[in-house]
Amino acid sequence: MQLEVIVLAAGQGTRMKSRTPKVLHTVGGKPMLTRVLEAVSALSPTRTHVVVGENGNDVQSIFESFDVNWVSQEEQLGTGHAVLQALPSLEKEAQALVVYGDCPLVQPSTLKRCVAEGQDGVGLITAVVPDPVGLGRIIRDASGRVEAIVEQADISLEQCGIDEINSGILSTSAKLLGTYLPQLSDNNAQGEIYLTDLIAEAVSDDVSVKAVRVNDFREILGVNDRVQLAQVERIHQQWQAEALMKKGVTIADPMRFDCRGSVTTGLDCAMDINVLLEGEIVLGDNVRIGSNCILRNVRIASNTIVKENTVIEDATIGRDCSIGPFARIRPGTTLDDKVGIGNFVEIKNSQLASGVKAAHLAYLGDAEIGADTNIGAGAITCNYDGKNKHRTIIGDNVFIGSNSSLIAPLTIESGAAVAAGSSITRNVSTDALVIERADQRNVKGGGTRFRRR
Ligand code: UD1
Ligand code: CA
Repeated sequence: MQLEVIVLAAGQGTRMKSRTPKVLHTVGGKPMLTRVLEAVSALSPTRTHVVVGENGNDVQSIFESFDVNWVSQEEQLGTGHAVLQALPSLEKEAQALVVYGDCPLVQPSTLKRCVAEGQDGVGLITAVVPDPVGLGRIIRDASGRVEAIVEQADISLEQCGIDEINSGILSTSAKLLGTYLPQLSDNNAQGEIYLTDLIAEAVSDDVSVKAVRVNDFREILGVNDRVQLAQVERIHQQWQAEALMKKGVTIADPMRFDCRGSVTTGLDCAMDINVLLEGEIVLGDNVRIGSNCILRNVRIASNTIVKENTVIEDATIGRDCSIGPFARIRPGTTLDDKVGIGNFVEIKNSQLASGVKAAHLAYLGDAEIGADTNIGAGAITCNYDGKNKHRTIIGDNVFIGSNSSLIAPLTIESGAAVAAGSSITRNVSTDALVIERADQRNVKGGGTRFRRR
């Protein structure tokens, strides 16, 4: 069987009140349309057609990596009209699957079920929902057979109580679409050509319409406004949290966990409340992330602890490290094993060898720091001269006293010690002690004179 998918993605979605096309609004950091296309691709269709509207170019430019046929629908005259625009691109003998681009949580298994039900007639995915208001209702006859779908705007008082709704996921042959779509009219409350009217037409011709209910209605929720966008986002996040917990991660509160990317973890990792993960995150065993941490494209090896309010971006961190609280690790940073980074320490584009400690208030930028070196409180690399960035190279076992300014380019060799408060402008050789500060003067009785002045 040749399967061709039609994804409806035209229009801004008036209820979104946005300049961005609706299907580009994100769930879990990905455009809704990406999620739908990913679910669709699991069925390996021979072709996927995406119907886009006046902002089609904005949409297409984001999906260059997807192999899809873009179909233009100049004016949004309804879902039936949208499918009609794709119809000429379909093979005559193909089976079609229609999916709406604003339904980002749909699972491949549900799409497959729909295709199976639509083999010799029409397959339709429905759901029983707690709040059907705004959705198309499934009308069944006394024997339970589907008769029609009625949209909210056209509903009668008795039909209001029906809680089985249309998901928008439908499968049938290209042939049947070709028979019924051109017959549909816009003679309804919204003046639109509804794809859903196809059901009543097919039923009146004795075409078999098989409606199957989805197991979990949350999967087929559509997004029409930003309230629904937030609801769908939370469901997605909850599912991700549950998947991680099932893999052995402790999540303090799944309602306060967000992942906008992918996470791979070992066993016994733990995340406290309000952790945000973005991009690609890889954690070893027993990595603990404190509350309010943000991690973006980060690899962390086993037994490392990231304490609360720490932000780490594009960095690789070894095992048995302790980072934070309130640390900021910026792109291009590599920390080897057993590194200790404390509060208000910022590190950018730097490599710290194992055992390095920077416990408080430091800035390390464009630096290479050898094993077991200690960076005192308030020490900074002056990596920028107002025009260019320069590197600071520090050897093993170096002691950098508090409040030192290391003016790059600079090399401090292994075993050296820099006295607190020094401004270092010239290279320091192995095992040297550098004191670069004015001599202290103690003036007898100066305290009294100071207060009298
Ligand atoms: C639609 C269904 C409704 C169903 C609900 C499920 C129809 C008439 N109604 O209603 O039965 O319960 O979805 O969420 O189908 N689109 C186009 N071109 C158009 C109109 C829409 O491409 O001319 C696309 C939109 O981008 C959207 C999708 O089709 O992704 C659905 O359209 P929308 O207006 O959101 O339909 P609903 O009112 O939600
Ligand atoms: Ca919708």
